[in-house]
Amino acid sequence: MGKALDGVRILDFTHVQSGPTCTQLLAWFGADVIKVERAGAGDITREQLRDIPDADSLYFTMLNHNKRSVTIDTKNPEGKLVLEALIQKCDVLVENFAPGALDRMGFTWERIQELNPKMIVASVKGFGPGPYEDCKVYENVAQCVGGAASTTGFDDGPPVVTGAQIGDSGTGLHLALGIVTALYQRTMTGRGQKVLAAMQDGVLNLCRVKLRDQQRLERTGVMKEYPQYPNGTFGEAVPRAGNASGGGQPGWILKCKGWEHDPNAYIYFITQAPVWVKICNVIGKEEWATDPEYATPTARLPRLKEIFAEIERWTMTKTKFEAMEILNKYDIPCGPILSMKEIAEDDSLRKTGTIVEVDHPVRGKYLTVGNPIKLSDSPTDVTRSPLLGEHTDEVMAELGYSREQIEALRTVGAI
Ligand SMILES: CC(C)(COP(=O)(O)OP(=O)(O)OC[C@H]1O[C@@H](n2cnc3c(N)ncnc32)[C@H](O)[C@@H]1OP(=O)(O)O)[C@@H](O)C(=O)NCCC(=O)NCCS
Repeated sequence: MGKALDGVRILDFTHVQSGPTCTQLLAWFGADVIKVERAGAGDITREQLRDIPDADSLYFTMLNHNKRSVTIDTKNPEGKLVLEALIQKCDVLVENFAPGALDRMGFTWERIQELNPKMIVASVKGFGPGPYEDCKVYENVAQCVGGAASTTGFDDGPPVVTGAQIGDSGTGLHLALGIVTALYQRTMTGRGQKVLAAMQDGVLNLCRVKLRDQQRLERTGVMKEYPQYPNGTFGEAVPRAGNASGGGQPGWILKCKGWEHDPNAYIYFITQAPVWVKICNVIGKEEWATDPEYATPTARLPRLKEIFAEIERWTMTKTKFEAMEILNKYDIPCGPILSMKEIAEDDSLRKTGTIVEVDHPVRGKYLTVGNPIKLSDSPTDVTRSPLLGEHTDEVMAELGYSREQIEALRTVGAI
């Protein structure tokens, strides 16, 4: 069976996390992703957080599946010519260098257009145009400037960053959508275009509901589903909401049996209005179903702390999985707090290809996250990440270079 992006060639000039997540997705959909790395060194993550001496790190291998690697010194005049040949052959150039790096290399948008007017040039940058556009940005910086950190954590503590890499992987995902959209438009216009995903914008897009709440707060001065109501105070900006749900159905994280020694013995519990009577029955508070102080969502809002404390008295008598099983019988929405160990060992995630075991010639077998987006006509096979420069000769030959020319370029350090 063919793949959705068969025939699309990507010049992958990405490094670290944000760009590589984008090109990895495109590779999983069938694009030929040619990763250009600095001769001799490669993507810096190859050696970051190494767990096995001299083997590519998990940081690198888990972000660069299904790609080919060529090493080119793009500051060497002859290396530049090789890059030009690649630009002429590829459909998309993806990069996440610091602002201006591509221009300094001599590959401005105008130059790239001269070489290939159909080329789509896709970039991740920290900020869009404006006062900060020249700044370098990493994951947690993006979380802080995109509104995630100020709205994450508890009211009485400092801002908190989340473990989900919404700045890097989140922006890579946004960029991938921009690229396939530009490819689609190109089928009608015949022209390439620039695609920009700024990390601040990507994080803010994922924090959309918090900008919603900012405006609600300005209008009403209070948000009744936030834990600050009715016992705390609201300031001028959206406060940190702890584990409150963020939507119209109140929720909280509650202790389960074993919480004293297991840091993940907790469950997320949602007091969804349509199943309120069932909740009352399950936890043995049948009287709440008819008591006007508890029977309606509005009446419950000022009592959420007390209500969750009562529900927790019940969840503490069950393990998180027992609680999940009982609650699901009654359609009560909930979710056990799964540790990474539990996720790594989850059979159903392995069956769907969301967790995959991959073999690597240097590091051996390791687990990775497969393609989370499943296409029925374009299934994903996850293959290992390339060794540094593993495909230099192969790609050079495809570009028309002879064996002698390749050796000559290698001798002068261009590849
Ligand atoms: C991530 C980031 C902070 C890293 O910064 P950095 O380590 O200084 O790396 P840069 O991107 O600036 O690139 C370093 C240099 O390598 C050069 N380089 C890269 N590939 C090369 C190659 N194959 N041959 C020769 N030189 C190469 C670049 O031209 C640049 O040179 P210059 O500074 O002289 O112009 C920065 O790239 C950035 O802000 N990127 C955009 C936002 C982003 O993606 N952040 C998330 C990272 S997960």
